[in-house]
Amino acid sequence: MSFPEHRPRRLRRTPAVRRLARETHLVPSQLVLPMFVREGITQPSPIGSMPGIVQHSLDSLRRAVAEAAEERIGGVMLFGVPETRDAVGSGADDPNGILNLATEAVVAEVGDALVVQTDLCLDEFTDHGHCGVLQADGSVDNDATLERYTAMGLAQARAGSAMLGLSGMMDGQVGAVREALDAEGFTDTLILAYSAKYAGAFYGPFREAVDSQLKGDRRSYQLDPGNGREGVREALLDVEEGADVVMVKPALPYLDVLADVKASVDVPVWAYQVSGEYAMVEAAAAHGWIDRRGAIMESLLGIRRAGADAILTYWALEAARWLRAEL
Ligand code: PBG
Repeated sequence: MSFPEHRPRRLRRTPAVRRLARETHLVPSQLVLPMFVREGITQPSPIGSMPGIVQHSLDSLRRAVAEAAEERIGGVMLFGVPETRDAVGSGADDPNGILNLATEAVVAEVGDALVVQTDLCLDEFTDHGHCGVLQADGSVDNDATLERYTAMGLAQARAGSAMLGLSGMMDGQVGAVREALDAEGFTDTLILAYSAKYAGAFYGPFREAVDSQLKGDRRSYQLDPGNGREGVREALLDVEEGADVVMVKPALPYLDVLADVKASVDVPVWAYQVSGEYAMVEAAAAHGWIDRRGAIMESLLGIRRAGADAILTYWALEAARWLRAEL
């Protein structure tokens, strides 16, 4: 009988060896928590399809961001849910709009203790739910939308946002917002480009989270799920236009795109573990069908392994606590 020549299992024999041999690590500073703030409420309001996640009031948001700062996660990404909406999303660039007020309040609370980021997209603020303004035929008008994005970007920068998350998937959005920021002296405001953002089913629970008015879909501006190279192309264009960070979204169904983007650009690459990814694990865990903590940490580690330098995840705080407990 001949023995195996190679024994890779030696590297897996004890917890100590496995710890030393691990290629990929996750630390709290690599986690960004997406948060929702809703105009006109005084108590946090639960989101049914995202157990454990709430729409915050201004007050509860401020407290929750202070808590996130104490956990020393990397940052928070704020989404606003306005009381009233219109065709052009006027609440988005109104200094008294909910997202801008919340940004100001949060920055006053935590300063630079973590990176306060804001979603730059019109969909929460339009009465039709699309990410841009519409033409007469109902299609999204790319270039007219860029003017709304530059106004929104300036309002967010004035409110103190450190990093603008451009999630609308309009052509030229990064260049347009960068130019507007620089012209007004906001040369230090970072741009996170949602470069490879795919149209699909995994944003379902988010629609409830922001009370989305969308009928139809976003397939004329977000990427087709079958296209990997097009995701890389979008990331390269965004870097050329001045993106400080590029992102792939959703995360788990697009790990190949994440790895390809990581190999193609020289800026940080982030991934967004979206609402549907969250809801699937929570639902399975609630049935006792999956080990909740194990599934959460394995998915985050897998996203890191595929190339994400940081991850937007609704589990950011809980994962940060688990990571500290493991040290
Ligand atoms: C657009 C935006 C969306 C998400 C983040 N930014 C919704 C969409 O594109 O339909 C989804 C995030 C998630 O599902 O967790 N403002």
